Amino acid sequence: MGRAREMGVDGDICSRALVRLLLGHHSVDPIAEPQILVISTILSAMAYNYPPEKLSIYLSDDAGSILTFYALWEASRFAKHWLPFCKQYNVEPRSPAAYFSKFCNPGDAFNPTKWSPMKNLYEEMANRIDSVAMLGKIPEELKANKGFSEWSSGMTSRNHPPIVQILIDGRDQGSIDSNGNALPTLVYMAREKRPQHHHHFKAGAMNALIRVSSEISNSPIILNMDCDMYSNNSESIRQALCFFMDKEKGHDIGFVQYPQFFDNITKNDLYGNSLNVINQVDLPGLDGWGGPPYLGTGCFHRREILYGRKYGKDYEEDRTAGIERQTAKNASMLEEKAKSLITCTYEHNTQWGQEIGLKYDCPAEDIITGLLIQCRGWKSVLINPPRKAFLGVAPTTLAESLVQYKRWSEGHFQILLSKYCAFILGRGKIKLGLQMGYCIYGLWAPNSLPTLYYLVIPSLCLLKGVSLFPKIISPWAIPFAYIAMGKHVYELVEALQYGDTLAGWWNLQRMWILRATTSYFYGTIDTILKLLGISKMRFTITAKVSADGNASKRYEQEVIEFGSTSSMFVIIAVVALLNLLCLVGGLHSLVVDGRIMGLEPLFIQILLCALVVAIHFPIFEALFIRKDKGSLPFSVTFLSLGFATLAYLITIA
Ligand SMILES: *[C@@H]1O[C@H](CO)[C@@H](O)[C@H](O)[C@H]1NC(C)=O
Ligand SMILES: *[C@@H]1O[C@H](CO)[C@@H](O)[C@H](O)[C@H]1NC(C)=O
Repeated sequence: MGRAREMGVDGDICSRALVRLLLGHHSVDPIAEPQILVISTILSAMAYNYPPEKLSIYLSDDAGSILTFYALWEASRFAKHWLPFCKQYNVEPRSPAAYFSKFCNPGDAFNPTKWSPMKNLYEEMANRIDSVAMLGKIPEELKANKGFSEWSSGMTSRNHPPIVQILIDGRDQGSIDSNGNALPTLVYMAREKRPQHHHHFKAGAMNALIRVSSEISNSPIILNMDCDMYSNNSESIRQALCFFMDKEKGHDIGFVQYPQFFDNITKNDLYGNSLNVINQVDLPGLDGWGGPPYLGTGCFHRREILYGRKYGKDYEEDRTAGIERQTAKNASMLEEKAKSLITCTYEHNTQWGQEIGLKYDCPAEDIITGLLIQCRGWKSVLINPPRKAFLGVAPTTLAESLVQYKRWSEGHFQILLSKYCAFILGRGKIKLGLQMGYCIYGLWAPNSLPTLYYLVIPSLCLLKGVSLFPKIISPWAIPFAYIAMGKHVYELVEALQYGDTLAGWWNLQRMWILRATTSYFYGTIDTILKLLGISKMRFTITAKVSADGNASKRYEQEVIEFGSTSSMFVIIAVVALLNLLCLVGGLHSLVVDGRIMGLEPLFIQILLCALVVAIHFPIFEALFIRKDKGSLPFSVTFLSLGFATLAYLITIA
């Protein structure tokens, strides 16, 4: 760290940053990723403190929805007021949704007569976008405007032609804001989708984006952001460019990665989403070994390396190659050319998805892409300034969080077992420490097996009176005690040091267990089935915001949100109930048989079982006490009681 230099970015050929945004797996359901959050992200990027004529913003809408296009069209008009406002008053953060939300009310220091007209303008726009999203179609009178005619009836998110629309053409003298200043280029794109063609998920969308942007702006630096993150710092582009432009050390830097932070984590981080320790301990550690992985969002890349370029001595001389800006063509010619680059068949018989662009056929495509870049000789850099650059929305229900971790752990486990394992791919190319760093995450998924073992077997043995661990007073107990204490005390200190609370640490321990028994376990099984060729790859979406008003209240009060029937919840409840039964049954038989004096051989098991019961306390609440909509449904209670009792009876029989 600390490699950043102060440096002006104007005037250098390299400073033509291109910002492009990726709208993630935008589902058909506008509720899942509300349009207003998406365009707030876009507006925050358009308002970067950076010369607008050198900035181009692309929204890749993987659902190809006219509603998203409409929202972006509204944003392109609102930007004409928002951008000069941001610059005049030095507003931060520049996402209007975040700025006007209750979390950062503009405040007393800033005269309301200055910002309230802007707030009204924003709310009017938000209302229009919301009501159009509710209706599910755009007003008739808009159809005459450029762009809207691209949509015809019968088009769906899975079946539509390529669409590219330049909403603001930065080269055009007429594209100016309300103060007469230039605006950044703004482009909407949706690649062609046909049911018979595989679309390769986010990696496919990113590769389409790389090609479209090469046609329209072709800037040498690309930032990609997921649509659920907004820029919290208008200086981030300049900060990141300092690394690329460093005259002494910048020449071998392939990408600059900002860590992922979230702006709606509750005080004690109920679902352990904050990544505080990973962001502030793991990633700087990897940075020291040659660079952090590419995390898929909040990352600046050199365009050339996404085209598969190897690092070499000749790199310096080629700096200016390939950044000729298309000035001769007019916007509609550019749009037509760009469309031809994102058809379903464009990539056939090319290296896209293999040697060029983001890698296909793995859920953790970003990690592999980053590793391949590092193996081609490039370094990456972690940049983590105190004021966070990008803030995202963390999952606010248990199911969302578990699904997210399933995807992550499964992706990393698949990498570990494939030819892209860092030990194989990186051998002799990246440092051993970095290879090991990549593999830690790959071991999350298989870790579910020993965790499940420790959650179930010692408790069942306790019930039967079988001792598995050394007596608590025997010297053989010392290694167990040392490892258990050492690990947890160390983790606790680390967590407290990097901003977690004590209760937050306890919540994280619970989440580790819940993830291990569900996300990681499913990830392991899916990966193994896939290796055996039994199941096809699945990629689940997380819903971003819960619809029920009470659900968000419960989230703020840190009450775990179940609410739905899921096999994951059954597993969680069975583990909790089984341990409760074993603890009660085991202690009972100790007392009844008068063996209470012979506690020592079973002491560690009793302790373990009691801790498991204690950490599952919110699960018991949801099973038996809570009556709200977010508690466990009766079917889950019924099934889990059945399974746990069965296991209990079989054991004591
Ligand atoms: C989290 O984000 C959602 C959606 O943006 C919002 O409704 C909720 O109030 C936020 N919660 C917290 C605690 O920040
Ligand atoms: C986001 O930016 C604001 C100022 O714009 C700052 O007060 C806040 O601390 C930042 N958030 C984080 C998490 O750094």
